[in-house]
Amino acid sequence: MGIHFQEVSFAYYVPKSKKKPISFTLKNINLSIDKQDEFIAVIGHTGSGKSTLVQLMNALLIPTTGSINLFGNIVEHNKKPLLKPIRKQAGLVFQFPEYQLFEETVIKDISFGPKNFGFSKDEAHKKALEAAEMMNIKAEMLERTPFTLSGGEMRKVAIAGILASNPDVLILDEPTVGLDPINKREMLELLRKFNQKLHKTIIIITHDMNVVGEYAKKVLVLKEGNIIHFGDKDSLFSNEEKVKDANLDYPEMVKVLKHLNKKLDLNLNVLQYNKLDAFKELKKIIGEKHEQ
Ligand SMILES: Nc1ncnc2c1ncn2[C@@H]1O[C@H](COP(=O)(O)OP(=O)(O)O)[C@@H](O)[C@H]1O
Ligand SMILES: [Mg+2]
Repeated sequence: MGIHFQEVSFAYYVPKSKKKPISFTLKNINLSIDKQDEFIAVIGHTGSGKSTLVQLMNALLIPTTGSINLFGNIVEHNKKPLLKPIRKQAGLVFQFPEYQLFEETVIKDISFGPKNFGFSKDEAHKKALEAAEMMNIKAEMLERTPFTLSGGEMRKVAIAGILASNPDVLILDEPTVGLDPINKREMLELLRKFNQKLHKTIIIITHDMNVVGEYAKKVLVLKEGNIIHFGDKDSLFSNEEKVKDANLDYPEMVKVLKHLNKKLDLNLNVLQYNKLDAFKELKKIIGEKHEQ
């Protein structure tokens, strides 16, 4: 069980008069995402529908046509779903976390989710402390007002607020935008840990192909409201036409290896996404060349 889209289209405005054509932001989306162990990067040009797509994944938006099965709950137009069981299993962190924070103190903000899902004040507090610790939020920050925090700190608090309810699926809309390199890496490593150790499914929207290369297990590419790729990274980055069609770039490591192939007339497999794998590939091919 997980997230299943069946022929889903979405329009922000549906015209009252049937004569006017509907302008769909998302068109005929079919998609299945497991509630465990997936790490998916959602990419595509600005305006391609990424934020809209992820908001359908926790019923923040409702499809205009088609059907979405969210953890066994059917979400369709004109059919009000039970939101709590959906929101408990799929937590969404907005691109601008300040929209998500509203309590007087950080700890109250993080406790809001579990309280809302029916835990007692003490239990909610305990869960909030655990979630704050998971996000490396320092104890002295807990009594501060969320609005006095930096953008990066606010985002950590927003994520802790979601984690406190222990969802299976964690959805993050551009979580690393505006973070300095150290905080960016910390954030991504935390997400990787939640994925590998806690088996959570992570869905992130990103424009950074290095993040896609280093962290994602699967890539979902949107173009003008259509999914033009949903699958592994290799089949995307080996398809030059598709990369061009979606106006995408390559991860840095892939670019370097492509360059080496061209300049040094090598035959490296360029689909390497981290330094260690790239080095292994170089050693293998250069070793073979020496033996010739
Ligand atoms: N609240 C809204 N009302 C009307 N149109 C919207 C709204 N949000 C987004 N759109 C439009 O829907 C399209 C997709 O937007 P969005 O899902 O935010 O794309 P992305 O996240 O890929 O940049 C864009 O053309 C955008 O202008
Ligand atoms: Mg967006």
